[in-house]
Amino acid sequence: MKETIQKDTKFDILPILSERYSPRVFSELPISETELRSLFEAGRWAPSSYNRQPWRVIWGIRGSKTYQRILNCLSEFNRSWASNAPALLLNAYKTTTEDGKENFHALHDLGLFMGNVSAQAQHLGIALHQMAGVDHESAKKEFQFPEEYHVATAVAVGYYGGNVNDLPEDLREEENPETRTRMLQREFTFNGNFQNEPGLNSSNQESITT
Ligand SMILES: Cc1cc2nc3c(=O)[nH]c(=O)nc-3n(C[C@H](O)[C@H](O)[C@H](O)COP(=O)(O)O)c2cc1C
Repeated sequence: MKETIQKDTKFDILPILSERYSPRVFSELPISETELRSLFEAGRWAPSSYNRQPWRVIWGIRGSKTYQRILNCLSEFNRSWASNAPALLLNAYKTTTEDGKENFHALHDLGLFMGNVSAQAQHLGIALHQMAGVDHESAKKEFQFPEEYHVATAVAVGYYGGNVNDLPEDLREEENPETRTRMLQREFTFNGNFQNEPGLNSSNQESITT
C-alpha cells in the first residue's frame, strides 16, 4: 500500500525532509568546492558506531578529470542522466574495525553521513540523487581504494531547477515530486513482534490510518 507524500503526510515533519526529492536534471548553476565542503562538513558530524567514521568520499566538479572518472564508473542507465549534474560523488566505506574484524555497522554509518549531507544540501537548495548503479569493483580499482574498502554509491549533486525536457521521455514523469509514494507507517513500524502483513499490527483505530 502506498500513499503520496506531501498531500497525505499526517504528521508535521521538517520542510527540508518533505520538500526533498531526487531529480535527474539540475539547474545550470555550478557547484563550487566551497558548497561541497559545506555538505561534507554536515556529514562529518554524523554519528557513527564507536565514532569510527568509516565513510570516504571521492568528489569531482563537472569539467574535471575526476568528474569524468566517476561518471565512467556509473551504470549505463545512470550515465544517461547523471552527466546533467554539476558535481559527482563516489561514496565508499571501510569494512573493518581497528583490529581487522568486520565493521557490521559501517554501511549504516555511511547512510547517516549521507542523511546529514542530504539535509544540509536541501537547506542550501541543492538537490542530490544517490545511485547504487555503480560498477563497484572497477570504481574501487580506478580510485585505488585499499582492499578493506567497499565502494557503495555515487551521488549526483546540483541545484534544483533543471529542464525536464533534457531527459529521455520515459524519465520525465518521474521528475514530478507530487507523484512520490511511500509505504504506510504500519507497514514498517511494529509495536510488538515483527509482522509481515500490512496493517495487522494496528492496535487501535487511530493508528489504522497511519
Ligand atoms: C542508496 C540509493 C541508491 C539509489 N540508486 C539509484 C540509481 O542507481 N539510479 C537512480 O536513478 N536512482 C537511484 N536512487 C534514487 C531512488 O530511486 C529514490 O531515492 C527513491 O525512488 C525515492 O525518491 P525520492 O528520493 O525522490 O524521494 C537511489 C537512492 C538511494 C538512497
